[in-house]
Amino acid sequence: MTDAPLSPRRALITGASLGIGEAFARRLAADGWDLVLVARDAGRLDALAAELTGRHGHRVETIAADLSTDDGCAAVEGRLTADPPVELLVNNAGISLNTPFVRSAVADEARLVRLNVLAVLRLTHAALGPMVERGHGAVINVSSVAGFGVPMPGSTYSASKAWVTNFSESIGQSVAPLGVRVMALCPGYTRTGYHERAGIDMSRTPAWMWLRTDDVVDEGLRDLRKGKAVSVPSWKYKLAVAGLRHAPRRLLRGVSRDTRGRVGRAGD
Ligand SMILES: NC(=O)c1ccc[n+]([C@@H]2O[C@H](COP(=O)([O-])OP(=O)(O)OC[C@H]3O[C@@H](n4cnc5c(N)ncnc54)[C@H](OP(=O)(O)O)[C@@H]3O)[C@@H](O)[C@H]2O)c1
Repeated sequence: MTDAPLSPRRALITGASLGIGEAFARRLAADGWDLVLVARDAGRLDALAAELTGRHGHRVETIAADLSTDDGCAAVEGRLTADPPVELLVNNAGISLNTPFVRSAVADEARLVRLNVLAVLRLTHAALGPMVERGHGAVINVSSVAGFGVPMPGSTYSASKAWVTNFSESIGQSVAPLGVRVMALCPGYTRTGYHERAGIDMSRTPAWMWLRTDDVVDEGLRDLRKGKAVSVPSWKYKLAVAGLRHAPRRLLRGVSRDTRGRVGRAGD
């Protein structure tokens, strides 16, 4: 495997205003990339764009869009198929819910699927057309270790991330011969405001289980350069995923029930 630098220089990042997406924006701007930043909060996006342009002098565009809506996806699809071209797409925006499936509103479950699944499908599709035509480009789909087979009770979230990982691996295989890479980035618990925003109590999660956003981004970009189909940052989670991939599903269901209770807690 080579560790050669990526040639592309303009990246579009969804969910770029906070957390892992913001860390991608800061890291890529520092590395000399022009950026297109997407999230719903226009004020926060513009402030980050102004800060990054001031510090690094690169062009930073912003698109305020709700990717759980048709119009939001269409606005970003329009940018992905326009010039100047986007050579790296980071599908990072995602949410989880903190309500057991049977008690949650179906509208909330559908909104999660539209953002975590449908937007990823639509934006990947829009980006790949021009990338395949040019014969280069890359897509990073931010998934989760939660997608590796622990069937968490009540969690549409883990099912959505299982889809993202499977989708990325399969599309990645089909476009690799055409010079384009698609990789699933599967972090474990990462310190952002994500769980607080979803109302998930993480106070009992041991400190050693938490990853830093910068480390997740560094390892993700390194794995993309190496041509990996799936990136699992940190040796701790690599070990955990190896276990999850080989453990009998009956055992996983038992562990999941014991650790999260019958109605469960939303994801990581
Ligand atoms: N943190 C973890 O422990 C962890 C672990 C594994 C995987 N992940 C995954 O990593 C990704 C990023 O997580 P994070 O922890 O960085 O999340 P975060 O801190 O909550 O940030 C989420 C970002 O997504 C944007 N966003 C949310 N809903 C949106 C929508 N409907 N349309 C467009 N943008 C939207 C938010 O901005 P606005 O609110 O302004 O829209 C924000 O920029 C997610 O896909 C998550 O599932 C996280």
